[in-house]
Amino acid sequence: MAISKKEHWDKIYTDGSATQLGWYEPKSFPSSALIERCAVPKHSPIVDLGSGRSTLISHLIESNYQNVYAVDISNVALKKAKEFLGQEQATQVNWIVDDITNPDAVLGLQNVALWHDRAVFHFLTDEDDRQKYRSVLKELLMLDGFLVMATFALDGASKCSGLPVQRYSAESLSDFLGDRFKLVESLEYSYQMPSGNFRPFVYTRFQKA
Ligand SMILES: C[S@@+](CC[C@H](N)C(=O)[O-])C[C@H]1O[C@@H](n2cnc3c(N)ncnc32)[C@H](O)[C@@H]1O
Repeated sequence: MAISKKEHWDKIYTDGSATQLGWYEPKSFPSSALIERCAVPKHSPIVDLGSGRSTLISHLIESNYQNVYAVDISNVALKKAKEFLGQEQATQVNWIVDDITNPDAVLGLQNVALWHDRAVFHFLTDEDDRQKYRSVLKELLMLDGFLVMATFALDGASKCSGLPVQRYSAESLSDFLGDRFKLVESLEYSYQMPSGNFRPFVYTRFQKA
């Protein structure tokens, strides 16, 4: 019997050591650099969509961002993220368990100044799911707000964590997002996995017009 997306991700985070996952990075780079360049006020709402057990949240708290939302379909991932941060930092984060393709709690957010997504959107291989994501993003991101999105590049892997992915270039992401999202910058980045292998990513930074 097929398992749900949530069951899939809960199992991944239950079974594996966080630092051995094929997307683990000890430092969230280049995401952190792209986020800094957005220069949003430190008190404004920032969403890390599909944050998992990423080290980015810790970086954001240490960089004095005061309104950080860690959103993930997997409560197991967020539980591990909280444990990693420790109580003092964890209480400074807003934790939301939600599926971006069938959102509920996340719809309570408004005037999001910065939306970060590393290695989440590319799992949406169904057109309806992609459109749902885009409409939620458009709705929640404030005017002039930023989207920092990283996906597998066109020459990247076709699967991750046993799931098929859709690969992108900066241009194809831009085409998908539409006129309201202006591409500010993009870069290709070769991510080294814990196994030592490399995975080509494309990093993009858009601003909502
Ligand atoms: C490959 S991991 C990347 C995690 C993190 N962004 C990072 O860079 O370390 C993908 C993450 O997206 C989450 N995810 C997958 N589908 C999702 C969905 N539909 N809604 C919200 N989160 C989702 C997974 O639970 C997982 O934590």
